[in-house]
Amino acid sequence: MSGDRVPPGAFPRPEDGEAPLTLAAALDALPKVELHCHVEGTMRPATVVELATRAGIPLPTTDVTELYSYGSLDEFLSVFWLVQSTLTTRDDWARLGYESVLDAAAHGRVYAELFFTPARHLAAGSALGDIVAGLAEGLAAAEAETGSVAMLIADIDRAFGPSAGVAMVDELGRLRRAGTPGVERVLGVGMDSTELGVDPASFTDAYRLAARHGFRLTGHQGENSPPSAIATLVDALGAQRVDHGLSLVDDPELVTRFAAERIGLTVCPNSNIRIANAFPALADHPFPAMRAAGLLATLNTDDPALTDLDLGYEYASVAAAFDYSFDDMVAIALDGVTASWLPADDARALRTRIHTTADALRPRLLTALTAYPEHPEG
Ligand code: ADE
Ligand code: ZN
Repeated sequence: MSGDRVPPGAFPRPEDGEAPLTLAAALDALPKVELHCHVEGTMRPATVVELATRAGIPLPTTDVTELYSYGSLDEFLSVFWLVQSTLTTRDDWARLGYESVLDAAAHGRVYAELFFTPARHLAAGSALGDIVAGLAEGLAAAEAETGSVAMLIADIDRAFGPSAGVAMVDELGRLRRAGTPGVERVLGVGMDSTELGVDPASFTDAYRLAARHGFRLTGHQGENSPPSAIATLVDALGAQRVDHGLSLVDDPELVTRFAAERIGLTVCPNSNIRIANAFPALADHPFPAMRAAGLLATLNTDDPALTDLDLGYEYASVAAAFDYSFDDMVAIALDGVTASWLPADDARALRTRIHTTADALRPRLLTALTAYPEHPEG
C-alpha cells in the first residue's frame, strides 16, 4: 500500500481524468454497494443539533465534535437512540435520507439497502407510512442529483420485544397492499439493537409474517452472540443474509455450510473495532479468514457518521490492513452485488459498471516506483 503514503491532496480527484491515483483514491472512486448501513447512523452531527434544537430535545453537548462519543456497544446504542429521537417529523426523515445519500455518493457508493429502525417512533405515536414516505422522498431527491440509489430495510428493534416487531411488519404489509407512496423502496425486514440475552427465535412470528408479505429477510446476529444464534436466524427465522455474522468463524462446520450456500454476510470491520471493541486493531479482524473460507463476506460501514467512516475509507483501510490488491477489492465490490437484492438485470448492469470503471482506474494506479520516483540528483 505504498500509494497511501502519498500526501492527501497531492493529486487531483479521480474524476479529473488521467491523473495518477493512490489505491485509496481508486477505491474511493470504484462504484460500490452497501448492504449494512443504518440511515440514522449516517446523520450529520450538525443536523442532529439543528433538529434537536428545533424540537426542544436536550443534548448532552451541542459541540458537534463531541456528540458522537461512546466506549462500548451499549453506550453506542444510547447515542444511536438519542440521534433517532431528534427525528420528529416526516420532513426530518426526508432530510436525513437526502443528506445520507449525498454523503455516501461522494465516496463512490452507487447502490445501498439501508436500514431504518422505527420502533421508538412508532411507540411514541408516529405513523410508519409518514416515516417511509419521508425517507423515500429524500432518497429520491438525492438519487436525482447523484445517481446513487438507496432502497430500504425496515429493522425490528430487539429492545422493543417480539410483539412490537409483529406490529411493525403487519403495518408494513398493510402499507404495501394500500400502495402507500415510498413503500416500494422497502425491500426487506431485518432486526438490530442488542443481541445479549435475546433469543432470536422469539422473533419467528415477525419473520414468518414478513415472508408472507413478500419481504426479503436479514438480521443482525453474531456481533456479540454465538454462532448458534446465527444458525437460528437463518434456519428458524428464514433470514437470507446475516448482518455482521462475526462469530460464525467460531463454528467451522457452519462456515463450510454458509460458504457452500453463498449466504451473504454484511461485515463491518471498522465498526467492529470502533463500536463493539471486538478486536484491538483492524489487522486482528477475521475478514480475510472469512473470505479465504469462501464466505460471501461483503464490506460495509454500519453507522458511518457516528464512527467517522465512509465506504471509500472502509475499502482502503481493509486493503491496507490485509495487503489486498486493487483487484481483490474489485472482487469484494462485485460480491456486494451478488449479496444484494437487486433484480437480475440491474445486478448484471451494475457488475458491468464496476468492471468498466475498474478497467479505467487500473492503469492510473500508482505503484511503489511511481509513488517514489528516484530523485534526479540521486
Ligand atoms: N444499530 C445501529 N448500529 C448497530 C450495531 N452496530 N449493532 C446493533 N444495532 C445497531
Ligand atoms: Zn448494524
